[in-house]
Amino acid sequence: MKGIILAGGAGTRLHPATRVINKQLLPVYDKPMIYYVLSTLMLGGIREVLIITSPEARPLYEELLGDGAWLGMRLEYATQAKPNGVPEALIIGREFLDGGPCAFILGDNIFVGHMLGEMLESVRQRDDGATIFVCRVSDPERYGVVDLDADGNVVGVVEKPSAPPSNWAITGLYILDSKGSDIAQGLTPSARGELEMVDVIGDYMERGALSVEKLGRGYAWLDSGTHESLLDAAQYIATIEQRQGLKIACLEEIALRKGFIDLPAFKALAENYPASSYGLYLRTLLEEGYLDV
Ligand code: TTP
Repeated sequence: MKGIILAGGAGTRLHPATRVINKQLLPVYDKPMIYYVLSTLMLGGIREVLIITSPEARPLYEELLGDGAWLGMRLEYATQAKPNGVPEALIIGREFLDGGPCAFILGDNIFVGHMLGEMLESVRQRDDGATIFVCRVSDPERYGVVDLDADGNVVGVVEKPSAPPSNWAITGLYILDSKGSDIAQGLTPSARGELEMVDVIGDYMERGALSVEKLGRGYAWLDSGTHESLLDAAQYIATIEQRQGLKIACLEEIALRKGFIDLPAFKALAENYPASSYGLYLRTLLEEGYLDV
C-alpha cells in the first residue's frame, strides 16, 4: 500500500510563525512536524509516500527528506496550488496511486501509541472500503464527529456539531480503497468553498463500506494547529523522550527496526548531527544494543 501526506495549508492560526514557513516544517520539540507523520506511515509498513505541499514549500521538503532512499523508502512530491480542501490530495495523488488503495494522513496529525504500527498493518489487509480512526476528545464540537450505534458501527458523521452525538472525533488518518480518488473527483465544494473529507467518508458510509477504529487509552492524538497546542505537543514529546530515553518518530531508528535499511546504513546515518541530542541518540542506540529496547 502507498501513502499520501497532505502537508500544505495556510496555517493561519499559527501566524506569524507560519507566514513564510510551512506549518509541517515547524519543530515539535526536537524534530520537524512532518517526521511524526511520516513515522506513522513507516510504522504501518508503508515505504512509498507522496508528499503534497504548497509550491513554495516543496523545495524545502525535497531538501529535508530527499528521495527517501536513506530511509529505504521512495518519496515523491507534488503541489497543491492553494488549500482547496483535504480531499483534493486524492485527486492530485491519482496518478501516484495508480488505481491502488492508500493510507492518507494530514501533515499536522501526530499519533503516539506503541500499537499504532500493528493496528495500521492489520487495517491495511482489508481489501475494500475505508477505515477511519477516531479518538476520544473532551471537546468534540471542534471536530468531525461520528455517531455510533450499539454495535459500534458508524451511522452518522457530523462536522463541528453544536450537539455532538459522541466524544469520538475523526482524526486525519484514513485508509481508503481505490475508489477514494473517484469520490473526491465527484465532490462539490462546501459552503466554505472547500472539498470536505466528511463528504468522502459519508460516501463510504452510505454504501456500508466504512469501518472505524477507536484509538482509546494508550494512544495520544496531538493537535498542533495553534500556538498553545503546538507547545503542548512539544512538551508531551519532550516529557516522554526524556523520561524513557527513547525517541518518538526517530525516522532512522524506525527504518532500521522495520527492516527498510540495514545496520551498516544505520551506522552511516548515526554519524549525522554530531552536535545534537538527536544525533547522540542514534549513536547511543548503536552503543547500547538497539535490539534490546
Ligand atoms: P487545517 O488545520 O484545516 O488548515 P491549516 O493547516 O491551513 O491551518 P489554519 O486553519 O490555521 O489556517 O488543515 C489540516 C491539515 O491539512 C494541515 O496539515 C494542512 C492540510 N491541508 C492542506 O494541505 N490543504 C488543504 O487544502 C487543507 C484544507 C488542509
